[in-house]
Amino acid sequence: AGQVSGGTRNVKRQLSQLFEVSLRTTFPDESNVEPLVVVSQKFGDYQCNNAMSMWSKVKGKTAEFKGGPGSIGETLARNLPPSEIIESTSVAKAGFVNIILSNKWIAKSIQKMLVDGIGTWAPVLPVTRAVVDFSSPNIAKEMHVGHLRSTIIGDTLARMLEYSNVDVLRRNHVGDWGTQFGMLIQYLFEMFPNWEEAGDQAIGDLQAFYKASKLKFDEDPSFKERARQAVVQLQGGDPQYHRAWKQICEISRQEFDQVYSRLGVKLEEKGESFYNPYIPGVFEELTHKGLIEESEGARVIFIEGHPKPLIVVKHDGGFNYASTDLAALWYRLNEEKAEWMVYLTDVGQSSHFQMLFSAAKRAGWLPSDKANSYPKASHIGFGLVLGADGKRFRTRSTEVVRLVDLLDEAKARSKMELKQRLENNGKIAEWSDQELEQTAEAVGYGAVKYADLKNNRLTNYQFSFDAMLNDKGDTAVYLLYAHARICSIIRKSGKDVEELKKNGSLVLGHEDERVLGLHLVQFSEIVEEACTNLLPNILCDYLYKLSDKFTRFYTSCQVVGSPEESSRLLLCEATAVVMRKCFDLLGIIPVYKI
Ligand code: ARG
Repeated sequence: AGQVSGGTRNVKRQLSQLFEVSLRTTFPDESNVEPLVVVSQKFGDYQCNNAMSMWSKVKGKTAEFKGGPGSIGETLARNLPPSEIIESTSVAKAGFVNIILSNKWIAKSIQKMLVDGIGTWAPVLPVTRAVVDFSSPNIAKEMHVGHLRSTIIGDTLARMLEYSNVDVLRRNHVGDWGTQFGMLIQYLFEMFPNWEEAGDQAIGDLQAFYKASKLKFDEDPSFKERARQAVVQLQGGDPQYHRAWKQICEISRQEFDQVYSRLGVKLEEKGESFYNPYIPGVFEELTHKGLIEESEGARVIFIEGHPKPLIVVKHDGGFNYASTDLAALWYRLNEEKAEWMVYLTDVGQSSHFQMLFSAAKRAGWLPSDKANSYPKASHIGFGLVLGADGKRFRTRSTEVVRLVDLLDEAKARSKMELKQRLENNGKIAEWSDQELEQTAEAVGYGAVKYADLKNNRLTNYQFSFDAMLNDKGDTAVYLLYAHARICSIIRKSGKDVEELKKNGSLVLGHEDERVLGLHLVQFSEIVEEACTNLLPNILCDYLYKLSDKFTRFYTSCQVVGSPEESSRLLLCEATAVVMRKCFDLLGIIPVYKI
């Protein structure tokens, strides 16, 4: 793992490998100097920054390099092994080696990708299996916008890892085991004695049901006591209580699935209850290792740097959120053999996960060093979704937003705007109802996803239909339409692109063609960066820039009917292919016609 094969996968890494050789040749006595190659904006496409620090390392020791870092830079450039990637280098006084990539090589790499498929540009990551724990709403409670963020961001991360050939276990860690079930089951039994025959009918709207039972729970002390007993019955495995529990979970699941199916998100549910049987064994191990201690009637794990310990058994002897998460972490490591565990929740839960991971390090489950070693656990926190008023997002002042309604509204609005646009440009007659419907859906749901993903996930973001459905700014609408236009250029040319891929040849003659081409071959390293740092906004930023660079190219270079037509059509096709892969990784369905 971690090894990189040839091809264009990661340009930065390929350059690093060349400089590694040069560093070894130049400084045979200095072992393991890491090449510092970065993208450059000014004098080259990339630059190598090793000269300065090498100068301070060797200046007293050798008579060589009299010219200081500058002469080290010169030598590093001279000692580069021959490579078709690099067109030329130049060295700045301070020793930075500027690298200009070969146009021919860029063009060849793009054409090779067109023939072999975008899969050949997938990043290579040092992990084979990962758990992505995302969405994870709580049964019987509402699935709120926080869960929507978790679902959208988690799905994208899972997609990026899957593209990188990581085996991803998409886990829906639903809250299906809290004490709230005692209350719900008891209420069901008392209000609907015939609940088993009535089926879903007894409960109807689960949220209303939850509210009603909570009201009784808060107002009626004897009901509260009966609810407490019910928890004991349920956890003791009473079959009737178990059936009621299952039924309640099933109704919730159907509601959650409506959101998942609209978003095209796949998840495998392993709720809190799944890990329950593993808790005693795991706690035995932790007690044996001296981690679990008694404190104020509860059992806890102390964590360095945290004023309060992590409570793992409540004073009444019951397990809690942390107990389950410890067992789940253990299970994922030992039973599922995951090397990377990624958890998505709002930043409010950061300290829970920090403590959880610290406990796992104390237990020796995770390596304790800070370096990038595996197995690894990462908590991916995200900020709040805000309404237009800058406060937590809600509709009609108090009610929380029903996610299904929100998605439906996004679709309805995008349909309206699409129709308007088609009426204005006189194309409405060319569209079937089904096409309208599908495009509205792709654009509407895509807009919601993109508006979320394009932000740095840690910042709060303001939810606005108007902003996300704007066809001009950095929105899914703009990007989807840009892609559709590229497809229409290709269609209108009447050329057979499959044939061109094999027999045509791509030449990057114009400066704007080159800028676009360079951006295309950087796709792999961008996805890798987005994966490694678990930051989808890096990919959004890349996609937006791609469409911008395409627009520039298309403005300055005539495609159809020009002498360079076939080469330029290949560049159009490559842009469309990479855009589609971006959409795919972001969970957005592409549009081909507008
Ligand atoms: N159900 C939790 C909530 O709604 C999120 C669970 C996240 N996953 C985990 N393994 N704790 O806040």
